[in-house]
Amino acid sequence: MLYMKNVSTHYGKIQALHEVNLEVQRGEIVTLIGDNGAGKTTLVKMLIGELQPDQGEVRLGTNLEIAYFDQHRAALDPEATLWDTLADGGGDQVVVRGQPRHVVAYLRDFLFDEGQARQKVKALSGGERNRLLLARLFARPANVLVLDEPTNDLDIDTLELLEELLQDYPGTVFLVSHDRSFLNNVVTSIIAHEGEGLWREYEGSIEDWLLQSQRTLALRSTATPAQPEKTGAAPGASAPAAPARDNKLSYKERRELETLPDLIDALEKEQGTLRKELDDGGLYASDPERATALYQRDAAIEEELMTALSRWEALSARA
Ligand SMILES: Nc1ncnc2c1ncn2[C@@H]1O[C@H](COP(=O)(O)OP(=O)(O)OP(=O)(O)O)[C@@H](O)[C@H]1O
Ligand SMILES: [Mg+2]
Repeated sequence: MLYMKNVSTHYGKIQALHEVNLEVQRGEIVTLIGDNGAGKTTLVKMLIGELQPDQGEVRLGTNLEIAYFDQHRAALDPEATLWDTLADGGGDQVVVRGQPRHVVAYLRDFLFDEGQARQKVKALSGGERNRLLLARLFARPANVLVLDEPTNDLDIDTLELLEELLQDYPGTVFLVSHDRSFLNNVVTSIIAHEGEGLWREYEGSIEDWLLQSQRTLALRSTATPAQPEKTGAAPGASAPAAPARDNKLSYKERRELETLPDLIDALEKEQGTLRKELDDGGLYASDPERATALYQRDAAIEEELMTALSRWEALSARA
């Protein structure tokens, strides 16, 4: 439903995005992971059509209603009351996902009590203002929610609340946050920065993503030459489940475990080669058919890699 192909963009000399290819499905909770200045805000704004790329194509699905929680905090009117901030027509109702709610009841959902409803925004603490912003955001009639660093200065109760709201949210969510433990409870897929303008998509939780990158590293160091008995000593800290020693590998499984590192290596090499060709830039103009075929193969390799990695993980835990 949201899709970008070969998207690049610069700010002067800075290449914020370099030939990024992404596809986000309806209902996903996607997080963007990258250091400060990596280009997370740029990428999100591009995905929702707020910024236009220098090069490449961005396609938005139909009927998208986007609500955006700005990293730099969309202003609240300090002189308005909490009540007015939510029920800005002056009535006493807020419409949340098509359902009318009493403004005080809705405020209570966001941990404000009745007494605060008539207070002015300027009387609130920083954390309370963020909570009010979230209340206003979740009352918007939207099916795409963009939260750029919403977790900064939220207290634990509000983080828990936000976690629940996101888990129940029926639409698509883009989330930028440095709070890994918060992210781990909510995200369904990850878009990670992998160096100068390069971004890559992973399905699963933060833990899955960390495991995958660690596995890949571990594999690179243990892959050659094959050592049937020892291959896949799980990289210490990250092994989630204790190896089940009584559940020994069958002969066939041992063979499979021996061959997986080579398979993974080969897939990664192939992917590296075709990405280099795609990175050349000119290919899309000179031979769009080949470019498309390469993108498709790239996606297929990605899936095969995921499968192979998780299979390797499962088998090596029992070896
Ligand atoms: N309007 C602009 N003009 C010039 N450079 C910009 C502009 N916006 C962003 N940049 C630069 O582009 C790069 C990516 O910026 P972006 O804000 O997308 O990163 P980010 O990952 O969201 O960073 P942060 O973690 O600080 O929020 C940075 O180096 C930034 O300085
Ligand atoms: Mg940012």
